Amino acid sequence: ALAPVPEPSPATPELATDRLYAAYRDIGLDYGPAYRAMRRVWRDGDRAVARIEVPEAARDGDAYLLHPVVLDACFQTLIAFADDGVLRVPVGVERLDVYAPLPPEVTCRTRRRTTEGTADVLLDLDVLSPTGEVLAVVEGLRFRAVPRSVPDAAATPVARTYAVAWQPAAAAPGASAVPAVTEGDWLVCGADRDALAAWRAQLAARGVPATAVHIAPGPDGAPDPAGAARVAFEDVHRTRGAVGGLILLTDTDTDTDTDTDSGTHGAAPGSESVVATAYRLARDTTAVLGAFLRTFAALRPDVVVCTTGAAAPDGGPASPGRSVLTGLTRAVVAEYPELTCVQVDLDPGAPAPAPAEILDRASALAGSGHLAVRGGRWYEARLRDAEAARPAFPQEEGAPGPLPVRPGATYLITGGLGGVGLAVAGRLADKGADTLLLVGRTVPERTPAQVAALRERGVRVEMLAADVADETALDRVLAHAEATLPPLHGIVHAAGTTDDAVVEEAGWDGLRRAMDPKVKGAWLLHRRTRRLDLGFFVLCSALGALTGLTGQPGYLMANTFLDALALHRRREGLPALSVGWGAWSGAGMAADRGLLRDFAALGVHGMAADEALDALDRVSAGGTGHVAVGAVDWARFGSATGRARPDTLLADLVPAGTGPAAEGTGEGAAEDLVRLAVERPDEASEAVLGRLLDVVAAVLGLSDAEREAMRPTFGHRHLNELGFDSLTTIRLRNRLRADFFADVPADFLFGGGSARQISELVCRQLSAMSVLAADDEQHDDAETEVLTL
Ligand SMILES: NC(=O)c1ccc[n+]([C@@H]2O[C@H](COP(=O)([O-])OP(=O)(O)OC[C@H]3O[C@@H](n4cnc5c(N)ncnc54)[C@H](OP(=O)(O)O)[C@@H]3O)[C@@H](O)[C@H]2O)c1
Repeated sequence: ALAPVPEPSPATPELATDRLYAAYRDIGLDYGPAYRAMRRVWRDGDRAVARIEVPEAARDGDAYLLHPVVLDACFQTLIAFADDGVLRVPVGVERLDVYAPLPPEVTCRTRRRTTEGTADVLLDLDVLSPTGEVLAVVEGLRFRAVPRSVPDAAATPVARTYAVAWQPAAAAPGASAVPAVTEGDWLVCGADRDALAAWRAQLAARGVPATAVHIAPGPDGAPDPAGAARVAFEDVHRTRGAVGGLILLTDTDTDTDTDTDSGTHGAAPGSESVVATAYRLARDTTAVLGAFLRTFAALRPDVVVCTTGAAAPDGGPASPGRSVLTGLTRAVVAEYPELTCVQVDLDPGAPAPAPAEILDRASALAGSGHLAVRGGRWYEARLRDAEAARPAFPQEEGAPGPLPVRPGATYLITGGLGGVGLAVAGRLADKGADTLLLVGRTVPERTPAQVAALRERGVRVEMLAADVADETALDRVLAHAEATLPPLHGIVHAAGTTDDAVVEEAGWDGLRRAMDPKVKGAWLLHRRTRRLDLGFFVLCSALGALTGLTGQPGYLMANTFLDALALHRRREGLPALSVGWGAWSGAGMAADRGLLRDFAALGVHGMAADEALDALDRVSAGGTGHVAVGAVDWARFGSATGRARPDTLLADLVPAGTGPAAEGTGEGAAEDLVRLAVERPDEASEAVLGRLLDVVAAVLGLSDAEREAMRPTFGHRHLNELGFDSLTTIRLRNRLRADFFADVPADFLFGGGSARQISELVCRQLSAMSVLAADDEQHDDAETEVLTL
């Protein structure tokens, strides 16, 4: 009576079972060799097929009708869907029909069903004999998420929507206050000599010596501000040694960038386009900041980045071109969790406040974050849960949400052949869209299964190859749509790509690769379609541009550009919504790049496509220009990212006291390790060494065989021999923070220390943690504070 689970298509990709089992072990469930019965497995979206062969060692007699090990092996096909880094166990089944005894070799055909509003996974299974005879059918097998390593931790979070709010900033502590850091010279960098002189004078008045570094191109037109800055930084390093902080004055002349049709040229002499402004600021500021951090980051200086007109705290205009510097600030916050980095966005319509006032405000923020001043009022940015105070996005029952569609119109999805693009295409069709135009730089030779399915449903789907950052190619797409398709009524701009590089090492080519589809592509789309009657213009941005991501400055700048572009369009009365997606599971760039486990370790869990798009649907069409959608465990995020100073943008979400400095219970590090570190340090060091090897292998993407080959000598190895680069170094440090709350200095990780010495250092930190935790229980709050600080 049950509908059979359909066969996946012959093109279904095969997954490597050893990797699946290893990944599942890493998230908490280790199947021993006798129980690893999935020999081969193929998965296509919500369907999978597994060939199962129960090993001899696990076949304890053939007297069963329903051999428990064979049945358990069928349940293991769940692992093929476990790409969100979440451990799940079976908790119930709706129906089980058995037609014949299960032999040790079977084929299991599996279909995943969607579950509303929970992190549960529901599977239907058909168990077949090797000759295709149906032996058993399992319907509604429910798996529930279990929290990782901490039995009573919060359950896996579900997707929620977030929005940035600007609130009045805390009052400055008064003119007598000293800047946040007073030891060592401060460096003041910028193009405006008068401003540099004013800053120096005001710092000197507070007893803080400052060195001005003039970074504008010289009169000979040699445009290498980064080169000039690098030389100056090295000089200061040689002659002064200590540096307390950096004030970076990015250009304050906001009259230059104009909203023109052109991709890169300004409308009038002396002006530059929004795109050119974005690229110039991104290139030069990243280079100057990178040079500064390379020279001085180890001294833990404070960083204040002054921008002008990059934010819209009071709903006024903001320059999308300048907004890239917001993304760059988030990159520094993520990559240097031990520093304080503040963006201060000055009022483009008023003279800049005195340097002393800016410094006082930055100090009063007491952590990293974003300040803006408009009309003499100071604001501070906070990311808020938009659904916590319902109805944050008031929406009438049955209202279309931010994607209102109608039949007889065309919907353009750039990046439409990627993971998010295809899911959005399906959702638009579900809402009634009957013509879809999917654009990517390449069109796959084989029609994607999702496109074939849409066509079967009668939806007209066209796929076109075009680079959206290429004006001619984009114009060709739009001309084709105009000539041959129904009127364009909605755009989802999902074209995007990443480029891995840390701020210190990012070069312009890589930054530009990540920025082109989102900065130039989005701007061209905006300009070329602004006269059309569009129902929506959705820009796919990233939650990471708000939380910060390591190793992605270009990508973060590209996304903050999209966020600002959406606000810019709204001020022009045009539809726009920038959606900062958290990680998607199943498909898309996070899943494709194997990053879901890294994200989950930081508390950012993968969202199924339906979950993500349902959350988007909860946002009203008129409500807001920029939302983020993510499934985030903020407590874990706070403890795992290791931000030593509060990150004020996230202060309303990350529970107080979850930073590493306040951590005393050893939540991320397994509690047994903490105990072991105190009672039997040698054993603990051995256990940490084993886990360190796992983490190193995961970060470097080693196979199981490569990892095992390394095991016997790992204790003596120095990690710098193993092929780490700056990006994988940051990932390793973050994983150590997340898993052990251990802060291992980078120079120890990659300089002097062998893997065993690193493990011993981690163990010492673990046992210190347990002492603090024990003290925590014995003392009242006031004393505890003293102890844990
Ligand atoms: N998936 C996630 O977890 C996640 C999280 C946060 C944000 N996002 C954002 O969501 C959007 C879609 O991401 P996704 O996960 O679907 O990534 P994806 O699977 O890699 O798809 C992105 C698509 O964009 C296309 N593309 C890249 N550059 C292009 C260009 N210049 N012109 C035209 N097409 C271009 C790519 O195809 P070609 O290479 O063939 O051009 C690719 O198919 C991206 O903007 C991404 O930043 C995704």
